[in-house]
Amino acid sequence: MAWYKLVKDDVMKDGDLFKGTVNDVEILVIKDKGKYFATSSYCTHEEYDLSEAFLDDGDLICPNHFATFNPADGSVKSPPEGSGDISPLKSYETKVENGEVMVDVE
Ligand code: FES
Repeated sequence: MAWYKLVKDDVMKDGDLFKGTVNDVEILVIKDKGKYFATSSYCTHEEYDLSEAFLDDGDLICPNHFATFNPADGSVKSPPEGSGDISPLKSYETKVENGEVMVDVE
């Protein structure tokens, strides 16, 4: 377990997405209803950059073909239009400490 600072707490509003990098791994930080979540930052369908995704009622939606993911655990809530199953996103633990959003990256 290793915690890394990715972004300051006071710069993210609900619904914001932030892409940061830890050890060459790009990680998407998501803020929804005051909680932070972190996932891998590329869609598992066709590698679309999820920093351009959006939240809809707490779901993370890839704008390319509308795959829907659960930000809390990266699971797939619905696959892309016209496609079969896809893999979940990788999910990371988060915490806020001293005004910094931190992500646990092994
Ligand atoms: S690339 Fe994300 S749904 Fe197709």
